[in-house]
Amino acid sequence: MVSLLLLPSCKSGNGDTIKVGEFASLTGKEATFGTSSHEGTELAIEEINSAGGVLGKKLELLTEDNQSKAGEPANIVNKLISRDGVVAVLGEVASSRSLEAAPIAQAAKIPMISPASTNPKVTEVGDYIFRVCFIDPFQGTVMANFATKTLKARKVAILTDAKSDYSKGLAKYFKEQFIKNGGSISSELSYNGGDKDFKGQLTTIKGSAPDAVFIPGYYNDVALIAIQAKEAAMSVPLFGGDGWESENLLQVGKDAVEGHYFSTHCSPEDTSPKMIAFVSAYQAKYKKAPDAMAALGYDSVYVLAEAIKRAGTTEGPKLRDAIAATKDFEGVTGKFSLDEKRDAVKSAAILQIKDGKFKFLETIAP
Ligand code: PHE
Repeated sequence: MVSLLLLPSCKSGNGDTIKVGEFASLTGKEATFGTSSHEGTELAIEEINSAGGVLGKKLELLTEDNQSKAGEPANIVNKLISRDGVVAVLGEVASSRSLEAAPIAQAAKIPMISPASTNPKVTEVGDYIFRVCFIDPFQGTVMANFATKTLKARKVAILTDAKSDYSKGLAKYFKEQFIKNGGSISSELSYNGGDKDFKGQLTTIKGSAPDAVFIPGYYNDVALIAIQAKEAAMSVPLFGGDGWESENLLQVGKDAVEGHYFSTHCSPEDTSPKMIAFVSAYQAKYKKAPDAMAALGYDSVYVLAEAIKRAGTTEGPKLRDAIAATKDFEGVTGKFSLDEKRDAVKSAAILQIKDGKFKFLETIAP
């Protein structure tokens, strides 16, 4: 699955291909994130190449696995840029890992496009850093309004991953809006991503008698939290953000995740022509339905390829300007433009876990 091609060092632009770097969590804690985004990325690269490539050249994808580990993204992105001479870097899903790599791309003046990192700090690193997803002030607002309006929750407990920039940010934006809506926070607790025992936090949360519990974490932790919440006879709804989206959440969480809710970027149930075409191409290649990260990985490639065409070159500063000018892009994840902060402005989707599947509930426009 890892398509790493090590050719003798010929810097991009001079060679017969345009080298695009990708860093992803193909193994380790959040392996499904990187696997999905990589599959979407790979599919888009193949489509573009079979349609003739870009500027008369094929795109060559150089993918490296960061094993979901801190420290690896910086190493890898350094190598992709200085050893392999990639013209742009695609990655990561997790905000903390994008934040680690972004200063390197910025310093090298090599554009980086994150498919799925939603923490605002990622693109604040500098003007070479972009994303094709919305940001967490929006996602937090969406889920706060969902808690108030749909769940009719007045008191919510929050359980945050203290190790994740994504989780801390999303908790903060959720809380700000939920309080604005007139709600209150019954208790606020944290864990460290990778923990296995959440009983202490859940006892305190239960004691604070919330109407619902907001858990802006990643699927692996959320599955265990949901199981232990069920064991503790907690019956209130649990809800979270895009970090929940993984088949593993369903496989591990089973009936403990049933009925709970999360926000994400899109749903394969969307009936736009782009989504329908994407779902069938993805299904044909990978024999499974795509998730949001796959769709975002796919969109990130097309945003890059279109920008290279418009720029007429892969030279860093010109390519940067062309990516920044992305407007009304028709993606699988919806139609979007990049704003002056290099963030995509687009809708969120809310899904519910029903009968062991992710069911689309509603779309929320920005
Ligand atoms: N938004 C999460 C982050 O920034 C990553 C993520 C994106 C997870 C999309 C799942 C789906 O860390």
